[in-house]
This record gives sequence, C-alpha cells and structure tokens, in this order.
Amino acid sequence: MNAALIIEKKRDGGELNSAEIGLLIEGYVKGDIPDYQMAAWAMAVFIRGMTVSETAALTEHMLYSGVTLSWPEDGPLKVDKHSTGGIGDKVSLVLAPLMACCDLHVPMISGRGLGATGGTLDKLESIPGFRTDLSVAEMQQVAEKVGCVITGATPDLVPADQRLYGLRDVTATVPSIPLITASIMSKKLAQGLHALVLDVKYGSGAFMKSLDDARALAESLVATGQRMGVETTALVTDMNQPLGRMVGNAVEVNESVAALRDEGPPDLREITVALGGELITLAKVEPTFESGKRRISDLLSSGQGLAKFQEMVAAQGGDLDAQRHVSPAHVIESPVAGYVHSMQAEQLGHAIIELGGGRKKMGDTLDHSTGLEILVQIGEKIEVGQPIARLFASNRAASTATASVLSAIEIGHAPVEPHPLLIEYVNTPNPS
Ligand code: URA
Repeated sequence: MNAALIIEKKRDGGELNSAEIGLLIEGYVKGDIPDYQMAAWAMAVFIRGMTVSETAALTEHMLYSGVTLSWPEDGPLKVDKHSTGGIGDKVSLVLAPLMACCDLHVPMISGRGLGATGGTLDKLESIPGFRTDLSVAEMQQVAEKVGCVITGATPDLVPADQRLYGLRDVTATVPSIPLITASIMSKKLAQGLHALVLDVKYGSGAFMKSLDDARALAESLVATGQRMGVETTALVTDMNQPLGRMVGNAVEVNESVAALRDEGPPDLREITVALGGELITLAKVEPTFESGKRRISDLLSSGQGLAKFQEMVAAQGGDLDAQRHVSPAHVIESPVAGYVHSMQAEQLGHAIIELGGGRKKMGDTLDHSTGLEILVQIGEKIEVGQPIARLFASNRAASTATASVLSAIEIGHAPVEPHPLLIEYVNTPNPS
C-alpha cells in the first residue's frame, strides 16, 4: 500500500494495521512522505479517531523512530510522572527529587511552554547555570549519580514526534486524543520506564476543557502504557485555577523550593502527595496508596527532597543559591466584594506570555523574572480593596497585565463551593 491509499483508508473510517502506520511514520521521518500527506492523514485521524490498537501501533512506531534509553538490569526502577499541562504546574520540580529519595530513578524528559502553559525546562532555566540540553550519556550519568534528572529531548529521541508535533501545531490537529496519546507516550516510553503516573488536567487552564474529554484522554494514555508493559495509572485533576499561588518561571522555582521545605501551598502539597504516593505504590516501594501518600508526606516534612533537588541542580550545572531575579511586585486589589466564582486560568497564562515569561513564537527569549501570584481561590469570600493578586513586572508592563488578570478572576454575589483538586483515578484500560 502507498501513503495515499493509507490516508484514504483512514479518511473513510477504516482501521489501519501496524504495517500501514509504520510505513507513514518511517517514511515521514526519512523525508520520503511530505508534510502535506502527513497533514491530510493527521486531519483524518483527528476526525475519525483511532482504536486502542491503532494508537498503540502509532505510539510504538514513533517510539522506535529514534534512540531509546536502556538501563542496567539490576539498577533501581525507573519511574516518571507526566502532566498534560496546566497553569502554575510545578509538580515535576518537587516530585522528581522525592522519588529519588525513595531509591527510584527519574530520567525525566520535559518540554517547554505550550500554548498558555509554562514549561518545566523554562522554569528550571531561571536557575543560573542550569543546563536543559544534556546529551543522552550525560542524562544517564546524572540519573545514575543523583537519582533524578530533568532535561529536554535530544534530536535523536523520538524524532517522529518532533516533526509531527510541529505539523499538528499549524494544522489544527493538536487536540486529538490518539495523537496526544502517541505523542506523550512515545516520549515517556523512550525513557525506558517501569512505572508512570499521569496527571491529566481538565478545566479552563488545561488542553481538555471538559471532564469527559480528560477522562477519555486518561483512559487512552493508561491503556497504551499498560499495553506496552509499563505500569501506568492516571489521576484526573482540576485545572480551573492555577496550581499553587505562583505562575511564571523564577517565582515557580521559588515556590517549588518552598514546597520542598514543606512551606508550600496546600494544593501543591496535596497533588504532590497523591501523584507521588501513587507512583511509589506502582513501583512497589509501598504496598498501598495510603502508605505511599504517608511516605511522601513524611518526606516533605523532613525536607530531604530539597537536598536531592540541590544535588540535581548542581549536577546539571546550576546554582540553586544564586539569586533568581524577580521583577518588582504590584498588588492588584479587588474592585468588588463577593465570592470568587471562577478563573480563566488560560488567560492568566497568556498574561505571563504578554509579560515576556512565555513565548509568542518559537525561539523567543524569555524574561524569567516576570510572574504572577494569585492570592485567592475559587469559593473564597472577597472584600472590596482586598489584594487578590501580585504581578511581578516592570511598571509599564504591569498596567496592561492588571486588566487582564482582573478580568480573568470572576467574582459574583452568591457563595460557591471550593473545587476539589483530585477528581478521578484511572487504572483500567479503555476496552474499545
Ligand atoms: N503534550 C505532548 O507532548 N504532546 C501533545 O500532543 C500534547 C501535549
């Protein structure tokens, strides 16, 4: 079969076999199949969807389009957590060292900001000297020596995703559950993991705006991971407001350091304990989710994770004690009294991009010193003139961003319930 016939089969709702999917992926990476044919195929997948076995085949062909990490058989188990992305989501910075404190290794490959969400690599680069461009060999050395490493993908890791992601970005085919599944899982599986926990976010600051879509994505990710022999589960979590108080780069590193001293915000602690507890249970370090959560909670109280984080930062060339510049703070006060009803979390992420803390186009240089501190949460009662946020920015930039922040925090008269953070636990593969 040639590429045109495979695209036609998908367009007409047919199920592709592994050889057909492999022909497209391998041909695309080699340059034999042009962007316009892959774009047509991606749109056919976007509209028609994929079965679990098609998604698994796509993941596998993408995974083996480049090098994969392999580890000594007798070494510690390799684990990771992946978030589908949200505003203020800094859990990776806190969780990776905690896992290393449990004698697990975390070879985390992370990304940069995507849409309105910040990127783990961008946040870490606010630490003077920190390198996110480690080679595969350097990455393996740091993982073996420290127990955790957080770096970017090298060009030879899952090149199919690097090409396909750029194509999807400009052809309106990013929010497709099978394409997101293959993109995320191929990169995670290339790390040579034994266990993976996924934080699938839903709400105004997430890719998946509805709980149903987040649940479907979680089921697809879990089914694909399990099918490929990695212990995989997911938590569906609320992203209708930023996680923690800080949004930005340097300010999120500061909040992560505070969390590792057990002085962080309660929602960041709750999600770290849940994801960490789940991951160490999957890796059989603890027998139950409850004991797993207790272990992570005790580790946070002990402050041991901070020493491990410091060790990882130093091994990647950074200096955690060097000053991370934060722009001057501007307090934003509520013009009205009432209750916080909702937040346009994505708009808060865009406010950071406007301040220079995120990219408008590929290659933009970031200003790591800008940021936002959200002082209220959904359900909270507010008085007129009460500070609801602080902007870290120059005077001029702050006046434009203030209006955007004020309109993103919606205050109404009637009381509303606070949002629970942990919505669902997904560990059963979707049978379709
Ligand atoms: N994150 C990824 O890595 N890939 C996607 O397709 C979406 C989010």
